[in-house]
Amino acid sequence: AAIEKSGYDHFMVKEIFEQPQTIYDSLRGRLDAKKGTLTMGGIREYASLLKEARRIIIVACGTSWHAGLIAEYIIEELCRIPVEVEYASEFRYRNPVVGKGDVIIAVSQSGETADTLVAMESAKEKGAIILGVCNVVGSSIARLSHAGAYTHAGPEIGVASTKAFTAQLAVLCLIALKVAEEKGSISQQRFQYLLDELDSISEKVATTLKLDAQIRQVADKYKDARDFLFLGRGYNFPVALEGALKLKEISYIHAEGYPAAEMKHGPIALVDENLPVVFVATRDANYEKIVSNIQEIKARKGKVIAVVTEGDTSIRSMADDVIEVPACDELVAPMLSVIPLQLLAYYIGVLKGLDVDKPRNLAKSVTVE
Ligand code: G6P
Repeated sequence: AAIEKSGYDHFMVKEIFEQPQTIYDSLRGRLDAKKGTLTMGGIREYASLLKEARRIIIVACGTSWHAGLIAEYIIEELCRIPVEVEYASEFRYRNPVVGKGDVIIAVSQSGETADTLVAMESAKEKGAIILGVCNVVGSSIARLSHAGAYTHAGPEIGVASTKAFTAQLAVLCLIALKVAEEKGSISQQRFQYLLDELDSISEKVATTLKLDAQIRQVADKYKDARDFLFLGRGYNFPVALEGALKLKEISYIHAEGYPAAEMKHGPIALVDENLPVVFVATRDANYEKIVSNIQEIKARKGKVIAVVTEGDTSIRSMADDVIEVPACDELVAPMLSVIPLQLLAYYIGVLKGLDVDKPRNLAKSVTVE
């Protein structure tokens, strides 16, 4: 049967609202928080190779590349294995040093992105182990991988990726936890704690989606801006990149994502009373640092929209608009903090009367270079 919008105006918003279910589906059958167990059938045979990997290289494009950047931080933290994240199109053409002992993780919603496919093929020829993290079952990338894990987000129709991204984050987090468990690089207590955090994440995503009406108002307030800046640190830095990408794709507003501390090396020159700056500033190890970055923007009269952890009163007193998401561990925070940014892009696109499901010049899957 044809995939329907089931009452939603667009596929994009339908898919945004499916995320409590799709994240749950990506964890189901793998994570058992009550028993404290994690089963990753698709990588079982490769678990020992993975824990001994000298290096993990993640190759991807677009939104999947952003999921890879978050996975880099998670894997290095939990597994203590060096990780590189490469744009597939760069990796394939630059004669990279890769071979036996390296593990490549190809991340792709469609499993058909030409650059990602060729990048993994050449690494495979050089002796690397290839894992695929794909959404489309039986896709080319899935078939070419030695092992992998499907994201189980269901068909994604909107050109701008939303539910596939959060499912990628969930699955990449599971892979990191599995490798850390095998390797013994995580304590039993932390392992259990993160299983519990993952177990409760889809409920927190559902809570975050209740911000819908508030975000629509924020969208209305800023929809005529010419540029946007998105800033984050740590696990939320790639979320800032993803927020900027979503806004560009859907609303055609120029947007840049940056690590918040790096803004003083360039983007701060753009700040004036007309520039909305979105801070992804949930409570984590970098919290105090990002608060001072917010002050730096306010001192230059920028408009601050902040995604914060619920109950945060200090940022509320500085920001122009505050969007509160439930508290969670910083490793899983991107699955929550990206939701308001997806909705913001969606509503700005809708309020501008644009075709949010099929933005101009973009393709759902780029199967040619
Ligand atoms: C296109 C899509 C993006 C997607 C990217 C990578 O640009 O419009 O939404 O993130 O390709 O696609 P993949 O299927 O490999 O994740």
